[in-house]
Amino acid sequence: MKQEELKKLLDTMSLQEKIDQMFQLTGDFYQDADSVLTGPAVQLGVTGEDVHMAGSILGTCRAEKLIKIQKRYMENHPHHIPLLFMMDIIHGMKTIFPIPLGQGASFEPELSKRCAAAAAKEAAVSGLHVTFAPMVDLVRDARWGRVMESTGEDTWLNSLFARAMVEGFQGDDLKEPYKVAACVKHFAAYGAPQAGREYHTVELSENTLREYYLPAYQAGIDAKAAMVMTSFNTVNGIPASINRWLMRDILREEMGFDGVLISDFSAILETIAHGCSEDSREAAVKALEAGVDIDMMTNVYAANLRKLTEEGVVQEAWIDQCVMRILELKNKLGLFENPYKDADTEKEKEIFLCPEHRALAREAAVKSFVLLENDGVLPLDMGRRTAFIGPYMDSKQIKSSWSFTGDDKDCVSIKEAAEKVFDGSRTVYLKGAPVLGSDSKESEARLTGFTGDECGIMTREEEEQMQKEAVEAAKEADLVIMPLGEHYLQSGEAASRAQITVPEVQMELFRAVHRVNKNIVVVLFCGRPLDIREISQKARAVLVVWRPGTEGGSAVVDVLTGKENPSGRLPMSFPYCVGQVPVHYNEFSTGRPDRKGIQERFRSKYLDIPNEPLYPFGYGLGYTRFSLSQVKLDKTEMREGDTIHAGVMLKNIGERKGTETVQFYIRDMAASVVRPVKELKGFEKVTLEPGEEREIIFAVEEPMLRFYTEQNGFASEAGEFLVFAGTDSRTENRAGFRLVK
Ligand code: IFM
Repeated sequence: MKQEELKKLLDTMSLQEKIDQMFQLTGDFYQDADSVLTGPAVQLGVTGEDVHMAGSILGTCRAEKLIKIQKRYMENHPHHIPLLFMMDIIHGMKTIFPIPLGQGASFEPELSKRCAAAAAKEAAVSGLHVTFAPMVDLVRDARWGRVMESTGEDTWLNSLFARAMVEGFQGDDLKEPYKVAACVKHFAAYGAPQAGREYHTVELSENTLREYYLPAYQAGIDAKAAMVMTSFNTVNGIPASINRWLMRDILREEMGFDGVLISDFSAILETIAHGCSEDSREAAVKALEAGVDIDMMTNVYAANLRKLTEEGVVQEAWIDQCVMRILELKNKLGLFENPYKDADTEKEKEIFLCPEHRALAREAAVKSFVLLENDGVLPLDMGRRTAFIGPYMDSKQIKSSWSFTGDDKDCVSIKEAAEKVFDGSRTVYLKGAPVLGSDSKESEARLTGFTGDECGIMTREEEEQMQKEAVEAAKEADLVIMPLGEHYLQSGEAASRAQITVPEVQMELFRAVHRVNKNIVVVLFCGRPLDIREISQKARAVLVVWRPGTEGGSAVVDVLTGKENPSGRLPMSFPYCVGQVPVHYNEFSTGRPDRKGIQERFRSKYLDIPNEPLYPFGYGLGYTRFSLSQVKLDKTEMREGDTIHAGVMLKNIGERKGTETVQFYIRDMAASVVRPVKELKGFEKVTLEPGEEREIIFAVEEPMLRFYTEQNGFASEAGEFLVFAGTDSRTENRAGFRLVK
């Protein structure tokens, strides 16, 4: 449809028809019993007529069903305006890729683009038009359950992934086959709840918000994301969903977002519980004033906007703006010409879990794994007697709580993959422990609230018996591989944890096995950085596999056996212990920085633990070793328009082919506001044969030196800078230059 036609359509719509476009319900309102509820069951009080006409649906998919719903809806709609179908396709639809945090570890945004494109294809054929992804929230606190949905603690790296994922989902034109609209979320700063507690207050300075939190949303918007979702939290003391400054001045005016803004699930109504709206009527006025176009899963708009407009409290022109944006999105997706878009039951059969998608899931999983420790035991010597012991040994629950469209049965477990390559007569497989113990505080009741899944909790006697059998097997083995980790419901939404450890029942198993066999390789399943001090001290190797997705088991076996090289690097620091959290590499220096090796009382430090995380951002090992030369700059002074080249030689000095990620960080030594001790500004992932070397050049340009200044917005300031080159964020390999203005 042409813009004028859309305008004409809007002009012919009644006020009620317009308001109907502005709220969204779950599929159960449309007789879909399988619709997924991704938020609290809200008492909607919507009438049959409203349900009939709501302009979009969330949480329901599959071609046959959506075609039927669309057909019925359009027949009943006076202007035959099609519905929009939206869902959380976060890291895959049927083929599940590694969680976004794992994808961040790949340091390969292009890979995420391919994963997003594959997810979009599966989503599109199942009838969906919009995915509520990517989540681009910056995360620094591993207690927060949703760190799994982020690509980590670095602003710039997140921005690269934000762009890549939006491009992957949307392609160049939403009308093209197999593209879905992306919804960048959660605007803004949802990743910074106090103490990591879900939905808790966010307290950030405007400087921190602009400098560290907003850029990744901006990257998604610049990549033309069709939608943005509000966040549950307050920003500057006002809930984001009714925050006019945040939504109108920042998001629309400054950041240039002109797409559809949707509230998070019941977030407009929740402003009453926040204590910022007196009632649903006031919430409706404030959300509309903020320019929120769609109210997700409450009747705040549906119940109030008509009366408010008739009374002249809100202007119909504001409603028109919202509705126009919604119609424009429907039009961009080509729904006026083809309301079913790519929904196709035959294509579902062909595309879901097709060999190309499975191969991509395997590649992505391999690239997401981070090897934290290895004394040489990996890659495995296949001639040894091997025992696989741990609850993830044969588990298919290796997706995440945000991949409910996928099926566990389609996942490849470690055992299934290992049986193909390990000698059956010399290999045993035992669970040894459930994922969560009978003593678990994160009890079945607390966890299952979300999905109703079983957590597999056993009696203490059953646990002891299981452990005993596993210990006997460990005694007979040359090597024990222990797939351990968090339950999949221990990360994701509403899954904050105060103790970020491997569940105690598994640690008991680990200790019991360690008493009889010191040759342990831990394969760690987790949705967040964990406190793994004990494991890291006692195990001979530790491989972090996050929540790896459909091809997780195959990828684990590929890496353990050396068929593939581990090459992931941490996108988020693994803390020394929970008391250190939030801990991130790009912190400020403070006026009393701690100095290595110097005992001084009045320093910024802990008495009982180091300041440094156990494993820092950017860290990870491979199966070979690399040397990196001193970084050299081709100039020591930068003037306007100049480029300075920082060069290092990378050499593979080990015996195997391997991949290293050379990272470049910059520090601004003195500025009008405090700058971080280091900031990632470039990286290159390089694969070299043994003995091979390559020069890596990093071009430093003035825009990289800019930061948020109160007076001039983003600007650089003259002075001294350091360029660091290294293989993780601890590097001290540096050289300096001066910016002259
Ligand atoms: O997209 C999600 C959001 O991230 C959390 N609340 C529910 C939304 C829709 O499912």
